[in-house]
Amino acid sequence: MADLQLVELTVDNLPAALGLPPQANDVEPVSPVAWSVAEAYVNPTAWPRVVLDGDDVVGFVMANWNPAEEVPEFRAGIWRLNVAREARRRGVGRFAVEQVAEEARRRGLDRITVLWVPGPDGPEEFYLRCGFRKTGSVVFDQVAGELLLG
Ligand SMILES: CC(C)(COP(=O)(O)OP(=O)(O)OC[C@H]1O[C@@H](n2cnc3c(N)ncnc32)[C@H](O)[C@@H]1OP(=O)(O)O)[C@@H](O)C(=O)NCCC(=O)NCCS
Repeated sequence: MADLQLVELTVDNLPAALGLPPQANDVEPVSPVAWSVAEAYVNPTAWPRVVLDGDDVVGFVMANWNPAEEVPEFRAGIWRLNVAREARRRGVGRFAVEQVAEEARRRGLDRITVLWVPGPDGPEEFYLRCGFRKTGSVVFDQVAGELLLG
């Protein structure tokens, strides 16, 4: 995918973002985009973004930037990542991670974190391939990972 871009949520791209998986009755290790957008509405430090391939919405990522968060893993890093099924394994998720890492660098940070659902149906291998390593912590039954930013 040569033409990926990270953009803000807009009136125009919101419907397609809401159509990303999971939809009702889907089983996926991530919340629906509608939940994330609702959380972002009430959480001023949330950073929701859409991944476009040309004009097509192919992903959604939400980070959070709040050093005062009670849970350390929620202070700087990825809260949510949803990639369209037909766009998977083509670099969209990695692009979203890189964009969040870039934003973290702009903010003067040297690491980002993420929590993932353990097990074969979770995104562990994806995050490890993107450079995350397990911190050894388990938070809300999820594996904590960190990516150190060089
Ligand atoms: C997990 C997810 C975000 C990955 O996105 P993606 O766009 O398919 O990932 P990429 O194409 O950028 O893959 C990057 C690397 O991870 C690997 N990878 C991706 N998904 C993988 C999987 N399910 N199992 C093993 N490896 C995987 C790719 O092969 C690639 O490896 P490489 O370094 O050899 O090139 C996507 O499958 C998804 O939305 N899953 C459901 C929701 C989810 O789990 N979100 C994360 C919540 S924290």
